[in-house]
Amino acid sequence: MIKGKISIIGAGFVGSTTAYTLMINGLASEIVLVDLDREKAESDAMDMNHGMSFLSPVKVTAGDYSAVKGSDIIIITAGVSQKPGESRIDLLKRNAQIFRDIVGQLKPYSGDNTIWLIVTNPVDILTTITCKLSGLPYNRVIGSGTVLDTARLKFLISERVNVDPRNVHTYIMGEHGDSELAAWSLTSVAGVDVKEFCDQCKRCDIRGVGKQELYEETKNAAYDIILKKGATYYAIALAVSRIVEAILRDERSILTVSSLFHGEYGIEDVCLSAPTVVDRSGASHVLEVKLDQKEKKALQQSAATLKDLTRQIGF
Ligand code: LAC
Repeated sequence: MIKGKISIIGAGFVGSTTAYTLMINGLASEIVLVDLDREKAESDAMDMNHGMSFLSPVKVTAGDYSAVKGSDIIIITAGVSQKPGESRIDLLKRNAQIFRDIVGQLKPYSGDNTIWLIVTNPVDILTTITCKLSGLPYNRVIGSGTVLDTARLKFLISERVNVDPRNVHTYIMGEHGDSELAAWSLTSVAGVDVKEFCDQCKRCDIRGVGKQELYEETKNAAYDIILKKGATYYAIALAVSRIVEAILRDERSILTVSSLFHGEYGIEDVCLSAPTVVDRSGASHVLEVKLDQKEKKALQQSAATLKDLTRQIGF
């Protein structure tokens, strides 16, 4: 099995849970944790190493930026989270500043084939900024995008129709955030369009109002969890682990990662999510799936919102 060296920048809730998930999934031969709070990173590494006799071996260490050298994938989870009363644009300004520093520090240690995977929010804008600051080929800078939102919607549909979420096919596209959209026109269960599936199944109804409810629940899931326990980390760590797997194993899996668009759907020069082929080169290419007019418009609107915010902070 192909295993790799994965470095994680930021050992907060998301970073450390991602490290743990990668460790138990057996995807990495080496995991490096980098955090300004070196003691936190070191004690996370220690805690994980103490479980090593229950797993196939992985080298887990804490280090500074130079320890990132030789990584197959660099995952960035570092940054600040929203303060009470703080606007999104102010949060964005603070994280953009942090990213200027991180990208500058990481660049000398990034190899020719290193993939950068951005997870910090607002993920799409920070992925765009990383593309611009790093000057890396655009396919090698990916955001976790709406991989998690897509999984959330699959789960919610699966609960309603009472089947395995892996047999529900759908995509959340656009921004990982308020302007995202559900591609209902591509949603199916066992290859059957969700509307027809409901006609046959009659157990519940996810047409009309039901659809809107599921979409709202997906879109607001992070707000709900953050309100109750301060952060989300388990599902995002699994989503990141899935992206890492697709990269390391050169799977050419279709995932809704965020990457820089080059005219797809009439959108240019901004990172957002659409079904994308993911392989060892990173975001190999964005697929132009057949959306209905309303969905396509919503995707373009989402891109416009992101572009506007990105411009407001000078990129
Ligand atoms: C969420 C965070 C990771 O959606 O953005 O849970």
